[in-house]
Amino acid sequence: MAFLELQDIQTHFPVRKGMVIRKVTDVVKAVDGVSLSINQGEILGLVGESGCGKSTLSRTIMQLIPATSGAVVLEDQNLSTLPQSEVRKRRLDFQMIFQDPYASLNPRMTIYSTLAEAINQRHPQLKGQGLNDKIVALMERCGLDQRFMKKYPHEFSGGQRQRIAIARALAPEPKLVIADEPVSALDVSIQSQILNLLLELRKDLGLTMIFISHDLSVVRYIADNIAVMYKGKIVEYGEAEQVFNHAEHAYTQKLLAAIPHIEQSA
Ligand SMILES: Nc1ncnc2c1ncn2[C@@H]1O[C@H](COP(=O)(O)OP(=O)(O)OP(=O)(O)O)[C@@H](O)[C@H]1O
Ligand SMILES: [Mg+2]
Repeated sequence: MAFLELQDIQTHFPVRKGMVIRKVTDVVKAVDGVSLSINQGEILGLVGESGCGKSTLSRTIMQLIPATSGAVVLEDQNLSTLPQSEVRKRRLDFQMIFQDPYASLNPRMTIYSTLAEAINQRHPQLKGQGLNDKIVALMERCGLDQRFMKKYPHEFSGGQRQRIAIARALAPEPKLVIADEPVSALDVSIQSQILNLLLELRKDLGLTMIFISHDLSVVRYIADNIAVMYKGKIVEYGEAEQVFNHAEHAYTQKLLAAIPHIEQSA
């Protein structure tokens, strides 16, 4: 059995019309029958244009929105049928990293408090020196100098803030990390540093990751397997190089054609 199995997942949103009696007039099939399996320690790249359903699929996996039908099975446990209290406990095992770390970090909390709070979700009793040591280790692992501990998010650059957001995601010791466009807002030179950090974390911690992007070249760099999503469905799936070099679906070929090529100058 795979680490994570998505079994024919559909997530639909009702569209309501009318001022008083709000009738359901239509549904948006944001996720429309997705089946995928992800192995322990794998990085799955999920690509597709804006609005194709990538974020909805990740929120469905996280059990933040209910699937209309289908099942999310994590380590043989069907999350879709678990009671809410059990889901809350299980949620520590999966964490998210978002495009805009500034929006996802609390501006009034120092790095220390942000990480302490996240570590305490898993280890509520941990305080004092023990907590401090864990924070220092986590910061170092994510390439942050421990001298920055008492600083606030606004005192950092975009790339460093994303490192803080990654440290916070790792603090509750998750098994699965879903990164939703984590480098899209960063300069190209910083992008590769963050991608390399994620690769290092996978190697050292055996993390399983779903890496979402609209940019196929970024996904190719980091992912073992790539799933191409189009209008709520997976239209192409395979090993990264296979998808990149022998794309079969017309939509994937369109995504490939959109990657800018650097011309060699004489
Ligand atoms: N809460 C909601 N209610 C109604 N429709 C929604 C809701 N959330 C998403 N949608 C619709 O579902 C579709 C998929 O949206 P989603 O945000 O998952 O796409 P995405 O692939 O993440 O796009 P982007 O690359 O822009 O982040 C879109 O048509 C969107 O408008
Ligand atoms: Mg999205």
